Amino acid sequence: MSDSLVTEPVGIELSVIIPTFNEVANVGELVRRLETLLRGVEWEAIFVDDDSPDGTAAEVRRLARRNPRVRCLQRLGRRGLSSACIEGFLATSAPYLAVMDADLQHDEALLVPMLEVLRGEPVDIVVGSRYVGGGGIGDWDQRRARMSEFATKLSQLVLHAEVDDPMSGFFMVRREAMERAMHNLSGIGFKILLDLFASSPEPLRFRELPYEFRARQAGETKLDTQVMLDYLMLLADKLIGHVVPVRFFLFTLVGSVGVAVHLLTLTLIYRELGYDFVTGQVMGTVLAMASNFLLNNYTTYRDRRLKGWGLVRGFLSFTLACSVGVVANVGIAAHLFNDSTEWLLSGLAGVIVGAVWNFALTAFYTWKA
Ligand code: GDD
Ligand code: MN
Repeated sequence: MSDSLVTEPVGIELSVIIPTFNEVANVGELVRRLETLLRGVEWEAIFVDDDSPDGTAAEVRRLARRNPRVRCLQRLGRRGLSSACIEGFLATSAPYLAVMDADLQHDEALLVPMLEVLRGEPVDIVVGSRYVGGGGIGDWDQRRARMSEFATKLSQLVLHAEVDDPMSGFFMVRREAMERAMHNLSGIGFKILLDLFASSPEPLRFRELPYEFRARQAGETKLDTQVMLDYLMLLADKLIGHVVPVRFFLFTLVGSVGVAVHLLTLTLIYRELGYDFVTGQVMGTVLAMASNFLLNNYTTYRDRRLKGWGLVRGFLSFTLACSVGVVANVGIAAHLFNDSTEWLLSGLAGVIVGAVWNFALTAFYTWKA
């Protein structure tokens, strides 16, 4: 056999992870640009698509049939930019991992200098930054610009690094740095870069390279209230998640609103309207239960929100679970009290047991993942 036929096997050096949701009109153009830009690099593009109704996954597979560098990872029944990126990371063995939006707002040309930095310098992560000299936010209106500025300030709570654009969704990271952080990642919401910084056991050695955020070519943004709430969830998870799960924290917050609802109803019905105490107490309980259910459905479990008949079924299972919770609560409290524990402590213990019970049961039956 002639020597010229024996080639060194070469793996993929750079994997570009591209989360997509309804980007059918953008993926073709993006692949074309990557093909031109990355000549001479062993690259691949992994589109992680959350079963977009517009058929993005099918379009990516069509592109993949004529270019093996293109891959499609389709997720069913799931949503989330960060978790999509994490699953993209885990689907490749490439030593360098980039994350980039599919909508052509990120300047793909930056991938080349990013790769050069990682190849040549002791840097863990290169961030495409809108807020360092030469970068910019393009045609954003004042409202979005202010929101971004505010979110960036908030990020300092968990960031522990002087990154100017921690909210960027455009970066390239060394595989080892990602692997060191991966078990701590929250994977909540949109901010995978911030998540990486906040979850890394050692401070990440970073470099920021400027780029100008471009206008969206086609399709529309998925940035909505859910995304903003997810951002707060991410911050909370990074701040207190190692002590109590964020959902439990929200669940108890909602519970304390429920107490207020209960007491207000009781005051209104018993004191103001002159009905008997038990009627007031029953009405208070029912209203608090309903408001707790709805509030949890819109905040704690916003991402698994129940609708239509699901809402009715959910309310029934919620009420049932919480009724058992009351039995557990009173049972524990009575037992402790009879065991000559302080009355306040007994009461509190009952409340805690009830809350944990309600949380666990409704997480499982009412808002099952
Ligand atoms: N798989 C998946 N699942 N992809 C998603 C989802 C989702 O639930 N939501 C959004 N995406 C994809 C979009 O299709 C797009 O490719 C990318 O994630 C960014 O979504 P946009 O809706 O375009 O977000 P944006 O332009 O408002 O914000 C982006 O740019 C900012 C500046 O760099 C995001 O990347 C932000 O994280 C980033 O800060
Ligand atoms: Mn975008």
